[in-house]
Amino acid sequence: MSAADHDQSRAPYLDAIVGYRDRDPTRFHVPGHKGGLGADPGLLAALGEDALGFDMAQGIDGIDDGPEPTPYALAEKLAAEAYGAEQTWFLSNGASQGNHALCLALAPLGREVVAQRNSHASIVDGLVLSGGIPIFIEPEYDPDLGMALGVEPAHLAEVLAANPRVQAAFIVSPTYYGLTADVAGCAEVAHAAGVALIVDQAWGAHLGFHPDLPASALSAGADAVLTSTHKLGGSMTQSAMLHLGSSERVDGAALGRAIRLFRSTSQSMLLLASLDAARRQLATRGEQLLGETLELLVDVRSRLNEIELIGLVDESFVGRPGVGGFDPLRIVIDVRAVGCTGLEFSESLQQQHDLHPEMATHATVVFVVSLAETPERLDRLVEAVAATAERLQRPPGGNEQVHRPGPSEGCIVSPREAFLGEAEVIELDHAVGRISCESIAGYPPGIPALLPGERITAEVIAHLREIAAAGSRLHGASDPTLTTIAVLLEERPA
Ligand SMILES: Cc1ncc(COP(=O)(O)O)c(C=O)c1O
Repeated sequence: MSAADHDQSRAPYLDAIVGYRDRDPTRFHVPGHKGGLGADPGLLAALGEDALGFDMAQGIDGIDDGPEPTPYALAEKLAAEAYGAEQTWFLSNGASQGNHALCLALAPLGREVVAQRNSHASIVDGLVLSGGIPIFIEPEYDPDLGMALGVEPAHLAEVLAANPRVQAAFIVSPTYYGLTADVAGCAEVAHAAGVALIVDQAWGAHLGFHPDLPASALSAGADAVLTSTHKLGGSMTQSAMLHLGSSERVDGAALGRAIRLFRSTSQSMLLLASLDAARRQLATRGEQLLGETLELLVDVRSRLNEIELIGLVDESFVGRPGVGGFDPLRIVIDVRAVGCTGLEFSESLQQQHDLHPEMATHATVVFVVSLAETPERLDRLVEAVAATAERLQRPPGGNEQVHRPGPSEGCIVSPREAFLGEAEVIELDHAVGRISCESIAGYPPGIPALLPGERITAEVIAHLREIAAAGSRLHGASDPTLTTIAVLLEERPA
């Protein structure tokens, strides 16, 4: 590669597709809308000629037919350099695609892997696809806020010592709430056990681009790291990246094959070019943009702190078990003193102020701040929170502690067998002792109560009913009323 190929101010793939569009070639290839000609006029008016003009599948354009490195290969190399990776893959099916591929590469049929119990659903889906067997590790937990935290290194060391066949451990950092784990500590214990540490940093595509942010997982020693670049990195929805570190604990060739297996043969250029552009922005202007936003957030936090009934999840949480750092780009408010739930608070912000948070639980509301916010938008947030706290104020109550599920006995059969096996739907009350085909997680606590392949116990049923009664939203249950559940058909004696 030449010196120009290391120039982070270039966006080779974006430039190549702009060049193609600007030449205005006569297209006799798909997509059939031909840059808008064959599109519904409403779609054309909504998205504009530019968006439809760039909407093509990677490879259709001949852009990547030239000598190596092609613009696409160069774009991935520049991303690897910017993130400090040995190799980076662009993903067009979200960080979910990355988790599916990681499971296929690192947790093949029958292989045990350690996985954080509250990993994103795409990890369990990945294990359904690969046939790997999860050994779950519980995250730390804040019962008052019903909030899962990170994994403690000492706990990881114990789980790895008890499971010597494991070769890979999957953890999540940062959490939805912006709290990072002690990734360096986890990497140290994983590597001491000869295990690859894989970090789902879906919520931290911007980490590593400003010194006041928590360290990126890759720089803290992780062997592979996933960034959902569309979340906070500035690329388009559904685009993400998977980064490989420099160790040899992960087989890059196997991972590359798995990534290809989970992508369309018509990857959207729009998504891929947006990744190239997002990388350029983070690498060349990230520190400045983030710095300006972080400065604004200091004032925002102090104004939020002055609202008597509002608490903040912030830097003060660092040092608790499972919390190694805090990403200030998340504003997490604790509304318990207002006397309402986070869900009511969020609803009121939407109804009365047309202001839409990312998530709410019984105790909290989570706002995602972008790399480049304006003081006006942040003012609107502070004013809306203050007005809502005043409007909803009543005697505190109704946000009782949300307990986490009890420790899991683990999977009795693999998630793959439970998902693909013959199932029957039975009354939940008659399901004790049966093997679940479903994943059910309540938010809060955001920790699955049941995963495919696990035995249904009376305690699990009681926990599900308790959190549903406390107002938790149940994800994954085929029957949200919790009357029935899909279980594996039992072998009946002949
Ligand atoms: C921790 C975590 N990992 C992975 C994903 C999947 O990301 P994507 O939506 O980009 O597929 C999410 C989505 O919210 C997530 O929270």
